[in-house]
Amino acid sequence: MIMTLQDVWNEYKQDMEKMEQSIFENLGSDVPLIQQVGKYILNAGGKRFRPMLLLLSARLCGYQGNGSDYLLGSVVEFIHTASLLHDDVVDEAKLRRGQSSANSLWGSQASILVGDYLYSKALSHAVGLKNQRVMDTLAETTTTMSEGEVLQLMQIQNVDLTESDYYRLVESKTGVLIIASCKLGAIISNAPATREEALAEYGRKLGLAFQITDDTLDYTADQKQLGKALGKDLAEGKVTLPFINLISKVTPLERDKLKEILEADTITDDHLAYTFELMGTYGAVDEALETAQTFSREAARALEVFPDSHARQSLLALAEYVVQRER
Ligand code: IPE
Ligand code: IPE
Ligand code: MG
Ligand code: MG
Repeated sequence: MIMTLQDVWNEYKQDMEKMEQSIFENLGSDVPLIQQVGKYILNAGGKRFRPMLLLLSARLCGYQGNGSDYLLGSVVEFIHTASLLHDDVVDEAKLRRGQSSANSLWGSQASILVGDYLYSKALSHAVGLKNQRVMDTLAETTTTMSEGEVLQLMQIQNVDLTESDYYRLVESKTGVLIIASCKLGAIISNAPATREEALAEYGRKLGLAFQITDDTLDYTADQKQLGKALGKDLAEGKVTLPFINLISKVTPLERDKLKEILEADTITDDHLAYTFELMGTYGAVDEALETAQTFSREAARALEVFPDSHARQSLLALAEYVVQRER
C-alpha cells in the first residue's frame, strides 16, 4: 500500500486545516503590500510538506499540548516561503507553484522585503512559545539555510563540484529545515533524546532524498505538473547530482562541451537538448534517483525505534512519496 501526500493529508484533514488557519492568521500585517504578496504566495498551492512533517512528528511523540504544533507548522512554512521568495529573486525564476513568481509580479525589491518580513514574523511567533530549545533550533536552522544559499552561489558554474560538496550544500539549503520540522515535533512533545535524534536522522535522509528528487525533476518533469520551469539549474550554472553523475561518465570532449554549456551566459535550446540527451545516454538522472531512493530507505530505517502507529506509517509513506513525487 502506497499512500500519497493527498492520502496523508486526508487522514489528518482536521489537523491540516487548523494548520492552514494558523498560516493565514499568523501572517497578520497592516501593510497592504505584505498582505497582498504574502497571501498570494501562501495561497499558491504549496505542498505544506514541512508543516505536515511537524504535525506527524509531534503525533509520533505523543504530543498532548494545545496548539504549539499548529503554530510551529506555520513558522516552518513561513521560513520555507521566505526562502523561496529570496531564492526566486536570486535564480530570476518566473514561475513558482504553477503561477507567476512574486518577483515577476511585484519585482525583486518587494519579494526580498516580504521574505524578510516572513522570516521575522516566523521567529516572533516562535518566541511566544517561550521554549529555548525551539528557539535554538530555529536560529541555527535559518542561519545554516542562509549559509547554504551563499555556498551555492559560490559554487555556480563549478564543473568540478564533488558529490560530497553537493550533499553539504543540500543539507544546508534544504535539509536543515526538514530536519528542524521533524525535531520540533519531538521537542514540543518533550520526547526523550533518542527519539528526537531518530527523527532528526529521518529528516536528514528525507531532506537529501527530497532535494535530489527536485534536482532530477529539473531535468525530467512535466513542466505543467511541476509548476516551475525545466532546465533552470543548468541555465543558472547550478551543478546538481544528475550533472555530477554525468560529468563522471562522459568523454573528455563531451566534458568540454558540458563545461561550455554550464558557463554560457545564455542557454540555448540546443544546449538543453544536448545535455538532456547525454543524461539519457549515460543514465545520469536515473542514477541520481537511485541515490534518492537509497536515502529514502535510510530515512525509513531511522524510524525503527518507534513502535507502530498511524503517525509512523504516515511518515514512512512520506519517505516513499518524496522519491515518487512529480511536483
Ligand atoms: C521547493 O520546496 C524548494 C526545494 C527545497 C526543492 P517544495 O517542493 O516543498 O515547495 P512547495 O512549498 O511545495 O511549493
Ligand atoms: C531549493 O533550491 C530552494 C531553497 C531551499 C530555498 P532550488 O533553487 O533547487 O529550488 P527550486 O527548484 O527553485 O524550487
Ligand atoms: Mg530556485
Ligand atoms: Mg530546483
